Order: sequence, then structure tokens, then C-alpha cells
Amino acid sequence: MATLEIKNLHAKVDDQEILKGVNLTIEEGQTHAIMGPNGTGKSTLASVIMGHPRYDVTEGTITLDGVNVLDMSTDERARAGLFLAMQAPQEVPGVTNSDFIKTAMNARLDEGENVSLFKFIKKFDQAVEKLKMREDLPHRFLNDGFSGGEKKRNEILQMRMLEPAIAILDEIDSGLDIDALKTVGQNVTEMQDGKRSFMMITHYQRLLDYIKADYVHVMMQGRIVKSGTVDLVRSIDENGYDWIKEEVGIQDERVVPQNDDADEQTVLGSCATREAMEK
Ligand SMILES: Nc1ncnc2c1ncn2[C@@H]1O[C@H](COP(=O)(O)OP(=O)(O)OP(=O)(O)O)[C@@H](O)[C@H]1O
Ligand SMILES: [Mg+2]
Repeated sequence: MATLEIKNLHAKVDDQEILKGVNLTIEEGQTHAIMGPNGTGKSTLASVIMGHPRYDVTEGTITLDGVNVLDMSTDERARAGLFLAMQAPQEVPGVTNSDFIKTAMNARLDEGENVSLFKFIKKFDQAVEKLKMREDLPHRFLNDGFSGGEKKRNEILQMRMLEPAIAILDEIDSGLDIDALKTVGQNVTEMQDGKRSFMMITHYQRLLDYIKADYVHVMMQGRIVKSGTVDLVRSIDENGYDWIKEEVGIQDERVVPQNDDADEQTVLGSCATREAMEK
């Protein structure tokens, strides 16, 4: 299907540099897991790959089979085969779930062409069944009032319908109960056909118990600081990230360092919520 190549990618939002030299190549058929502590740039990377207008790419390249992705609109990127399952999917009251997906599918065809309604319904029903979704969800407004887990399943429903060449799944496991995690895992595994590629952002080994990943990368300070295989996840699960920080020689892993101002410390120190949490 396609190879995604990211080289020395720098990106900023509101003049704040978030990505600071990301290098990553995902070849056709490969599954890469991206891990890393909170606030290290993982979701930003996903947004920049899809062309979110809020982020400015200041340096570096992203190519899909050698074609410059940065020149494409988000719409063109989707048509080229890129797909993002968001960490926090948007609610869109007024647009039904099935209409949204049908529109997205039609947009990927040549002008004037439409998906056959019969084929669409058949494929849709099958996907709903495979994802063990409540039958009314497809006909409700997109994500409107969906539970956290239902939203996540719905992202995978969209992926099943759109059949992207490269799927980016941002914390698809967060908020899923154990049965739902299994179902989502089965659905993703079924789509790992040796041609489609995946970039899975996750915090936990348990997702990788259900979905096989070829490579694992750790992001800190807006770039990939360590890469390995699934053994790396086991070490992280057991020992956390401190050993990687030590190895890389950094103290604060986040993109935006914490403000260690003394006054702020005092405010935080006397914060009632914090006190309650520390009890
Ligand atoms: N639109 C934005 N405006 C301001 N800051 C932003 C924006 N987008 C990202 N950031 C900042 O960039 C940093 C990285 O954010 P990002 O969402 O990429 O982290 P992450 O690695 O996905 O974290 P998590 O594991 O918590 O999801 C954070 O400090 C975040 O506040
Ligand atoms: Mg994130």
C-alpha cells in the first residue's frame, strides 16, 4: 500500500515548538507503536501528519511513497490513504454517524461517483457487528452522547469502512473495558493484512498483547529518543521511563518544561485538590 517517511520534523503551535526533529519510517505492512510520557508530542505528531491547521511545520519532511504530504490538504491526505483515530473524538451533533462515513467514503472516489447504497449498508452492518456496537449508534449523531468506549469503537468502525493505507490510532485503548479492548484488538489485527501500516500511540503494554507491533518507539521532548521491539514495552511497563531519561541524559521529558517558579510551587503546595490527592 504505502510507506510513510518522516524526516527531521519540527512543528510549532502558537510560536511554541512542540516537535523537535522527529525521524520515523513506517514501511508498507508494518505496525509501529509510539509510547512516551504525557505531553511529549505524540498526539501533536499525529495531528501534524494529518495536516491539522493549528500546527506550523517549520523544518523537515513527510512523504508517502516519496510524495510530499506537507503540500496536501487534510482532505487530500485522507484520499491518499492516511487516517487518524483521534485520542478525543469530536462530537458532531446534526450529522449522523452513517452519513458522515458515507460522505467520507464518497469523497475518496472520483468526482460524480458514489458508493453503492447496497454495498455501503452491507459493509456498515458487518462492521457494526464485528465491533459489537449497539445497533442504534450508527444512526445517531456522530459521537454525540456516545460513552468514552463507544467513541473509540466508532473510530475503528470508520477505519474498517475507509480501509486506509496507513492508520494512526491515538490511544485507541484508553477508556475501553477489557472486552472492548479485545474486540478492538481483533478488529485491528484483522486489518493487519501485510500491506496496511499502523502507527499506534499507547501508554500500555496491554494493547500490544492484542495487537502485534513490529517496532516500538519512545517520544520525549518532541522527538523519538529510543526505538526497539516489543521487549522495550515490557521494560517500560516494569520500570517506567526514568531509565530512558537517564540513558538519553534528560531530566524533564515534556516538550514544554514545567515552570519551577517558587511562587507557583507555593500555590500548588497549598492547593486543596493536591492535598486531597496526596492523602
Ligand atoms: N494547540 C495547542 N496549544 C497549546 N499547546 C499545545 C497545543 N497542542 C499541543 N500543545 C502542547 O504540546 C505538548 C505536547 O502535547 P501532545 O498532545 O502532543 O502530548 P502527548 O504526548 O500526546 O501527551 P498524552 O500522552 O498526554 O496524550 C503539551 O504540552 C501540549 O500542551
Ligand atoms: Mg496524546
